[in-house]
Amino acid sequence: MIGIFDSGLGGLTALRETARLLPGRDIVYFGDTGRVPYGTRSPETIVHYALQDMRFLCTEGVDIVLAACGTVSSTALCAIRGGFDLPVIGVVEGAVQAALRATKNGRIGVIATGATISSGAFAHAIAELSPRAAVTSVACPMLVPLVENGYIADDNPVTALVLADYLEPIRAAGCDTLILGCTHFPILTGAIARALPGVTLINSGAEAAKLLAAQVPPTQPDETGQIRYYVSDSVPGFARLASIFLGEPVETEVTRVEIERY
Ligand code: DGL
Repeated sequence: MIGIFDSGLGGLTALRETARLLPGRDIVYFGDTGRVPYGTRSPETIVHYALQDMRFLCTEGVDIVLAACGTVSSTALCAIRGGFDLPVIGVVEGAVQAALRATKNGRIGVIATGATISSGAFAHAIAELSPRAAVTSVACPMLVPLVENGYIADDNPVTALVLADYLEPIRAAGCDTLILGCTHFPILTGAIARALPGVTLINSGAEAAKLLAAQVPPTQPDETGQIRYYVSDSVPGFARLASIFLGEPVETEVTRVEIERY
């Protein structure tokens, strides 16, 4: 069984791609909706939350985990890999590889949460694979609350205004490729594409799902493609917004977890 977690809804962009690539595998999704956002918190708190999220997924019997959160992937991946005896895939590696394949001028933008940008994880990973690439990184803390509150239409005027401000350094640097380093951001793909026409957008959650799909068998004898959803806060709110992220209604039951117990 595959475990996927995020601070909230963003990881559903990775779940969507995972379920598309591996329709026969069972998936457990945990969204820490009671404690989102992670990206404004200290590395210590992010590690503490990520370890609790992992412990919960382990009680569900997962044998591989996709940390579908840019913030966790860039600040807590070593801690969770060291603490659990199962493979954990983050969202940095696949996105960086895809960006380097896509860029023609070697100028790559990264947008993500404050914690992710402060960690330097995307910029370091790019520098390791391609030292000559020029990276422009911008923290975009207001995008997560906009997404979690449904300000996601391509022409939403509030989101457009915020994006215009955040994306100006990316435009000014002439980036031809932009990594959406927070898994909430692909839901704003239309709005971001309007602000940066012609720039290739890299969906970090979807790229991580491709890495995951390459590592696991597409079927298991006891799995039938079931998806179970767990959250740490209000369940009805989750199902409504989650259906937008998934592009289809959430028909299975969503269960609330007391995550502080783990
Ligand atoms: N989806 C998370 C990320 O990729 C969310 C951000 C947050 O919780 O602040 O970073």
